Amino acid sequence: MSQIGKPVSRVDGRAKVTGEARYSAEFPLENMAHGVFVTSSIARGRIKEIDTAAAEESPGVLAVLTHLNMPKLAKEPKLGFGAIQVTQSFAPMQGEEIFYSGQQIVLVVADTLERATYAAKLVKVSYEVEKPVTAKDLDKVYEPEMLWGGMFPNRMARGNVEQGLGEAEVTIAETYSIAGNHHNPLEPSATIAAWSGDKLTLYDGTQGVFFTQSTVANLLGIPVEDVRVISQYVGGGFGCKGSVWPHTWLCAIAARQVNRPVKVALTREQMYTSVGYREEQKIELTIGATRDGKLTGIKHVKTSPTSPFDEWAEPSSMIMNGLYACDNFEASYRLIKANVMTPTFTRGPGEVPGMYALESAMDELADKLGIDPIELRLRNYTEVEPATGQPYSSKSLKQCYARGAELIGWSQRNAKPASMREGNWLIGYGMASSSFPVLPPGTVQSARATMLADGRAIVQCGAADIGTGTYTILAQVAADVLGISCDRIQVEIGDTTLPFVTSAGGSMGAAAWSSAVHVAATELRNKLVELAKSNSESLLFGAKVDDIATENGRLCLKSDSNKGESYTALLSRLQQPSVEAIGTWKVGEGTGVDTGEAPQENPSIKYAMKSFGAHFAKVKVDPDFGIVRIVKCVGVFGAGRILNAKTARSQLMGGIVWGIGQALLEHTHMDYNFGRYTNPNLAEYMIPVNADIPEIEIDFIDEVDPHINVLGVKGIGEIGMVGAGAAIANAIFHATGKRVRDLPISPDKLL
Ligand code: MOS
Repeated sequence: MSQIGKPVSRVDGRAKVTGEARYSAEFPLENMAHGVFVTSSIARGRIKEIDTAAAEESPGVLAVLTHLNMPKLAKEPKLGFGAIQVTQSFAPMQGEEIFYSGQQIVLVVADTLERATYAAKLVKVSYEVEKPVTAKDLDKVYEPEMLWGGMFPNRMARGNVEQGLGEAEVTIAETYSIAGNHHNPLEPSATIAAWSGDKLTLYDGTQGVFFTQSTVANLLGIPVEDVRVISQYVGGGFGCKGSVWPHTWLCAIAARQVNRPVKVALTREQMYTSVGYREEQKIELTIGATRDGKLTGIKHVKTSPTSPFDEWAEPSSMIMNGLYACDNFEASYRLIKANVMTPTFTRGPGEVPGMYALESAMDELADKLGIDPIELRLRNYTEVEPATGQPYSSKSLKQCYARGAELIGWSQRNAKPASMREGNWLIGYGMASSSFPVLPPGTVQSARATMLADGRAIVQCGAADIGTGTYTILAQVAADVLGISCDRIQVEIGDTTLPFVTSAGGSMGAAAWSSAVHVAATELRNKLVELAKSNSESLLFGAKVDDIATENGRLCLKSDSNKGESYTALLSRLQQPSVEAIGTWKVGEGTGVDTGEAPQENPSIKYAMKSFGAHFAKVKVDPDFGIVRIVKCVGVFGAGRILNAKTARSQLMGGIVWGIGQALLEHTHMDYNFGRYTNPNLAEYMIPVNADIPEIEIDFIDEVDPHINVLGVKGIGEIGMVGAGAAIANAIFHATGKRVRDLPISPDKLL
């Protein structure tokens, strides 16, 4: 029986709840000092003077680092992925200029956290203050040529959007806004840096140990192999741990300066100005259609603030470009260089706001045309990706609509807005499509699998578990191949000394790592089979490879399971303490299914690869107070093979919970006079709590995708959030007849 897909409980669950699992700030190194930042209280200007005298004389202080005594970086950070993976090119503490509030300007290192914290308060900074530019300075809006440091074109078009919209019989042209959101992982970012001679070890909360390793090495100008990064447990990432931020390399420099291990743990408040965020944004969306609901054009213009130094905008038009059959499409982005740090990837980056806009507009169109929202989407359904003409490697969106409608009770919905009531509550149903790209990793993925003489196995690769269940799914994959139970498998991840794999980002992790582990475990099994069949004392001596199966910790004949032997018996007879195998996988190799195609061809040359889903929400709204209560959410997804039904369900539920937060609560407020956030804490930045979260039902469409990777895994990291907010906003419209186009939909907006 396959272990893959079963709802196995987290193998690391016990370690997490007992505190045995160590997060980056929790490694108790000997002689460790503590670094505390002083950050800028102004958003724009320059440092006139920093008086560090009192701090330096404060008890226990080892160093007070400022731009005046901080060693210069070997390389300027440049926006990009790979050798240097940063999503902000500006490096603080290298000069006197202030670009944003919360910018790190002093790092005080002392022998205890308390003494460092106290000394940091003694630092006096004076500034030349300038008026900050903010998202409100609309006269500063401009259209960049490229986004993300030249990696992404600003303008994307096909067909002729003006002509398409001109031919439309019905048009929806509206602006959809989203407040700024912050990631707010349970575990704030932290780094411990320890030097041993020229070699650096970093304990760092990161979505990818390898990009942290190469980035820090390159910024510091030391060999990559001299840096080791350890990140065994990560308490949530959501994209804010998907690139390297200044505190990590500043911590490494500080440790070198004081010649002791140094820990830098960001405070919750500092998390709002140190590791990126989702920018507030406005999407002007125009969609046109014929009277029978066929789309004739989609036009997207997004305006958002970015930092003074980087042209960053979440790409909110990629899913929009390919979701529905429509010949004419155009998307572009406009920026304001404001005094804020550079935004960064935030769960379902860009596609979350983009799909909020598109799926709201589709709902408006359905209402205007008197067509059921699901029916409208079916009228624009496509079996080929509109942007490329490629067929999908697999697509189950129709089944997602049907199943979701059934689970939410869509048939009870009266199409007329504000027509359904339960007592004083107005009742509404809403839905939205969901999709996310399946991004093939551009690098070779590798893993090691080892069988020990006692019949336990070890699986290793430098993957990350950001709370998603990596330990568990990798154990399941190896257990399945080797025919042993999950609890006999030790999974080791989060260390640059382990085989290379890609990071946890872009919903790519599970697909890439499960492929590598499957290949490694298969190589190991083949080695063990080879040992048995060539050993004259084995019952499997002379057997054919294809005739041998693995089950219950043993190798045996498929035709006669009594004929075989356990791994323990085999290794002890051969007097081998262990057998080890390395497996590598790259896109296009060994999908394990005969597709009749040439191997080693990237499937994305032939196929459009995406996961799809449908969100449904039932809400009730108090018309007197504008209070919204979610009654039920449903998410149904077609995402290839699901590796673990339980962790997958949790992951998708988590996405929907954030969707609820985004639709109703989450809002990073800024005082635009000062360019400073006013609610950088979990007391005033509202996130949903248990009382806000109703029944959430998740279901999967059984989907076999033979093209994408070894096990046909598409990845579910982010799709759970894409469209979730739109479904809720649409349900609120249905309940009230009021269309709020500005998230979060706080009670005041419904009165
Ligand atoms: Mo995710 S926003 O790609 O870490």
